[in-house]
Amino acid sequence: MIIVLLGPPGAGKGTQADLLSAKLGIPKIATGDVLRAALRDGTKRGLEAKAYMDRGDLVPDSVILGILQDVMTSPAAKEGAILDGAVRTVPQAEGLGKMLKEIGKKVDRVLLFDVDDEELVKRLSTRTVCEGCQTPYMGRDPGAKCEKCGGKLVRRKDDEPEAVRNRLEVYRRQTAPVIDWYDDNKMKVLKIDADAPVDAVTKRTLKALGK
Ligand code: AP5
Repeated sequence: MIIVLLGPPGAGKGTQADLLSAKLGIPKIATGDVLRAALRDGTKRGLEAKAYMDRGDLVPDSVILGILQDVMTSPAAKEGAILDGAVRTVPQAEGLGKMLKEIGKKVDRVLLFDVDDEELVKRLSTRTVCEGCQTPYMGRDPGAKCEKCGGKLVRRKDDEPEAVRNRLEVYRRQTAPVIDWYDDNKMKVLKIDADAPVDAVTKRTLKALGK
């Protein structure tokens, strides 16, 4: 099953993608994580993405479609994938659709995590993430250890207030139209009220998926 997760920054896409991946037994593919790993490794792709990411702008569609081509044709995604934040523009939605068609697959479900801006800003201004495995945390200070891998928790540069404001604006301008694009292409977008405790959101999500 191929599931696309949509939603503004801080809506909980990464958190829920990890939980769904464990429940459904299919991998999570988060383009943000792939890009941050590329940056840490000092690859051309990572260096190209850095300035866009630090400002909270989207990296070019060509870079994202290149990543999606690599991962969706890899053996890891044979049984499907949970695409976390991997589709953020209409050309990306179109490109992914075409790419999947060529390999005899399609997007099976599109989920939209809905949270209002005030809560999003609150979540992002208090988030730390593991430098190693990228797990996000609330209420843990930078420098603390990750429960999962022992890595160091850090603040993301794009969680600074100015970058957060830009990310919300970019979401409204460039990503929100993707919702209408899927609707117009006969793929019902399942909206989840994600302003609730993590467990409750997971339950709502599984219910929406019929699981
Ligand atoms: P990315 O890393 O994907 O960032 P994002 O979409 O802005 O999403 P976030 O990771 O900020 O939030 P999330 O929804 O995953 O929430 P999380 O679970 O962490 O992308 C970063 C950048 O990479 C982009 O800005 C862009 O430059 C580039 N990029 C990536 N993909 C791209 C693409 N396709 N096209 C172009 N550019 C791309 O949760 C947030 C916080 O809230 C955490 O602290 C968490 O613990 C907490 N939390 C989660 N759920 C709850 C809950 N239910 N209640 C309370 N707290 C909660």
